[in-house]
Amino acid sequence: MTPAELEAASARAFEAEYGGRAEVAARAPGRVELLGNHTDYNGGLVMAAAVDRYTAVVGRARPGREGRVYAANFEGSARFPLAEIERGPVGTWPNYVKGVVWALQEALGAELTGGFETAIAGEVPLGAGLSSSASLQAAVAFFLLEAGLAPGKTATQHIGGDSDAALMDLAMVLRRSENEFVGVSSGLLDQFSSLFGREDHALFLDCQSLEFARVPLGSPGPAIVVCDSKTSRKLADGMYNRRFAECNAVVDHFKAKKGEDAVRLLRDVSLAELEAAWDELDPTCRKRARHVLTENDRVRQGVAALRIGDLKRFGALISASHASSRDDFENSSPALDALVEVAEGAPGFLGAKLSGAGWAGCTVNLVEPDKAEEFAEAVRHGYFRLRGVAPDVHVCRAADGASARPLDA
Ligand code: GLA
Repeated sequence: MTPAELEAASARAFEAEYGGRAEVAARAPGRVELLGNHTDYNGGLVMAAAVDRYTAVVGRARPGREGRVYAANFEGSARFPLAEIERGPVGTWPNYVKGVVWALQEALGAELTGGFETAIAGEVPLGAGLSSSASLQAAVAFFLLEAGLAPGKTATQHIGGDSDAALMDLAMVLRRSENEFVGVSSGLLDQFSSLFGREDHALFLDCQSLEFARVPLGSPGPAIVVCDSKTSRKLADGMYNRRFAECNAVVDHFKAKKGEDAVRLLRDVSLAELEAAWDELDPTCRKRARHVLTENDRVRQGVAALRIGDLKRFGALISASHASSRDDFENSSPALDALVEVAEGAPGFLGAKLSGAGWAGCTVNLVEPDKAEEFAEAVRHGYFRLRGVAPDVHVCRAADGASARPLDA
């Protein structure tokens, strides 16, 4: 679907649900994680790209103090008061929308100036590691700002779109919404990527210093092929937060050894220190930490490789990342491993890894630009042969981040 078709689908849903026309349209992309798996909440390094698969939100302000949302994908709706927003059952989509309103209001220190009604349509596969949730958050936030519901300095800057400092503020607001309202201990990767995306660029972020860069993918850049294993999981299902706790157990060990101020996050521990303390550490937790610290290193090397256009090296780092996730972080699955294995033998293959939280969903593949279709065909057949399921294969492009605009009357 083109972004225009997606927007039209949400506009039709809006008219059917509320009557009358939507006045504002916003959209935000999903993302792939290229390197830096589970490094973000450890204060580490990540490399990602926003991809040209979007969530669209259209709507208008309305009198009263209530938010209304209709989600075309689920044929479901939600209404909630702007004051004292309550979280719904764990793992349900309205929490993401309510959470954005909650966190924006917290950041503004005031309620939105009025109510709103919106319709949402999305094409980012759900629960698949492409961060449909961050694209929903970013699109909702851009809708609210463009509709003038969160006035003041912050809002105008965000919508200006050219102030990266303001965009970073917004990314943090959205992360807070996911951490404190939705209840997932995630890092900044997803929200950052959906907001900062740029066409034909990869994104680098140091999650501790918040230093970032948009790194050109080259011309012609590699194809980014997303393969969906057709298995899914919910981020709030507990495994993610368990990994968070396992990483923090290692942090606690080093805090006790080196002092609270010296070690705040896993980022503050070096690989050499981890190896030296290996026998003192819990056998599961130390593997988790080794994954995170070696990932940071792969990100550093990946940025350097991309800057000199060494796609073979960049691809090899991506594949090494998958092996580390599989063996040390143990967040892969037989389905994801099978997809990676099939990809390795396909034409144009440069590298493949799971994307995002893991355990199910998608792999991200770096492929020689002129081989993307052949590659996709080979993966479709190979995966079907191994698992008896046809994967969805999406040939993607690195895309611009979230945007919003008024619709013509
Ligand atoms: C999910 C989270 C991100 C990040 C990745 C793993 O996508 O939302 O913050 O932790 O998993 O790298």
